Amino acid sequence: MDKKTLKDVRKSFLSYFAKNDHKIVDSSNLVPNNDPTLLFTNSGMVQFKNVFTGLEKRDYKRATTSQKCVRAGGKHNDLENVGYTPIHHTFFEMLGNFSFGDYFKDVAIELAWNLITKEFGIPKDKLSVSVFSEDKEAFNLWKKIAGLSENKIYKISTSDNFWSMGDLGPCGPCSEIFYDHGDHLKGGPPGSKDQTGNRFIEIWNLVFMQFEQIAKEERINLPKPSVDTGMGLERISALLQGTHDNYETDHFKTLIKVSSELTKTKITKDNIASHRVISDHLRASVFLIAEGVLPSNEGRGYVLRRIMRRGMRHSHTLGSKEPIFYKIVPTLIHEMSDSYPELIRAEPLITEILKTEEEKFSILLARGMRILNDNLTKVKNNLLPGDLAFKLYDTYGFPLDLTQDILKNKKMNVDVSGFDKAMAERKKTTKLAWKGSGDEAVDKIWFYLREKIGGTEFLGYEHNQSEGVVLSLIKKGKEVQEINEGDEADLVANQTPFYGESGGQVGDTGYISNSKSNFQVIDTQKKLGDLYVHR
Ligand code: ALA
Repeated sequence: MDKKTLKDVRKSFLSYFAKNDHKIVDSSNLVPNNDPTLLFTNSGMVQFKNVFTGLEKRDYKRATTSQKCVRAGGKHNDLENVGYTPIHHTFFEMLGNFSFGDYFKDVAIELAWNLITKEFGIPKDKLSVSVFSEDKEAFNLWKKIAGLSENKIYKISTSDNFWSMGDLGPCGPCSEIFYDHGDHLKGGPPGSKDQTGNRFIEIWNLVFMQFEQIAKEERINLPKPSVDTGMGLERISALLQGTHDNYETDHFKTLIKVSSELTKTKITKDNIASHRVISDHLRASVFLIAEGVLPSNEGRGYVLRRIMRRGMRHSHTLGSKEPIFYKIVPTLIHEMSDSYPELIRAEPLITEILKTEEEKFSILLARGMRILNDNLTKVKNNLLPGDLAFKLYDTYGFPLDLTQDILKNKKMNVDVSGFDKAMAERKKTTKLAWKGSGDEAVDKIWFYLREKIGGTEFLGYEHNQSEGVVLSLIKKGKEVQEINEGDEADLVANQTPFYGESGGQVGDTGYISNSKSNFQVIDTQKKLGDLYVHR
């Protein structure tokens, strides 16, 4: 097998598909501008969602990408696995090839099989595949094209072999390719009891896109059968570098070397999880900040904060008292800016945000850890009381998953329902405090809406156009179901690129429309900190 660096693998993949008449398309942003239901781009097909459904036309029918993905929060969420497995990431790159109504199962299988066995030289006897149990066609094609024997083709009836982007959107049965890393590792083939082990690792997922989920119970056919595939760049690179551990590849070893130098810790079996978390969470944080996502207490910004704080806690565990994340940034940028030049442009912002957040959090972290350790004796049945976890959240800025991560090594967990109860209680008292503040300037309606629908995601740092879901219409200070031509009203959506008036800068104007109506925005106001109201 060829030994290739991460950069080499990315390049070989894209040029292989280019040779096979695919257009090389740039990765889209992590904050999707074409899908208001998705927190982050979680796979290569997201930027092509509307091409699959026929809503959007492109001048090519075959494409290939290396797509930036984040799987933290939302339907595909790997946050809590990171550090504890050799293959999970919050941020990763997904290599993919796509057919928009052009080729279907047979060509997809042939292209995939030739790439991995011929171009990459992976021995055939190490490979096996899974198919959706109802998909006889795929089963027969694997036999015919790849010459796989029937016992190497696993029929799976669960959702593992039916892929969907989110609750809604394009979906279809899929077929996964597995590599057997050898019997020195624990784990069984797909569909078996011990399939979660590290021996058989999924390297490529071929999705035969045929349907669109348009409502919870309603699925329609796509205009034409299509193909969407996804291969984690980090996993395939590990395989081609002779390891099953993504964190043992050239790229991660380079990052981990820096974290080990900065924290002055040699890498051992006991601390490798922390080094993995630092390298992974640094990548996610850097790429998100480069797109203008900033740590906050809501939505995407809160996912970023959770990732950053979880990472920073691990550097603290390694004994580092000083911020280290921003010091690893130059190495990461050196590794990745060829493919992602946005990192160079954003370097000053990335450095500033990482440094400030780490400085701010490190004081709270030390105090919070002391409180937590002092209270561990109170833990009964390995469950930390919810009100204590809430205190750590509320006073020391510990996201719930951070506390859970700390307890994981001690084989303990948090009483999550107690935590939720404490949170609900706090919301009630904040509301009472607000009512009593006599702040007449804030209309009750905004307070009510902020409670009901949460804050608005602001997308304006990156986009001046995007999709959103309308969450409320307000006319004469009252929420209404519809507004009519000529009405003056306010509109609140789940996300918006419109800048809301604040800090001496006026609010944006523009248009919000769908196929039937057009809403002229004459002003945008920011209420209660983060509720964007379009007039
Ligand atoms: N969209 C498919 C996946 O993410 C290829 O696995």
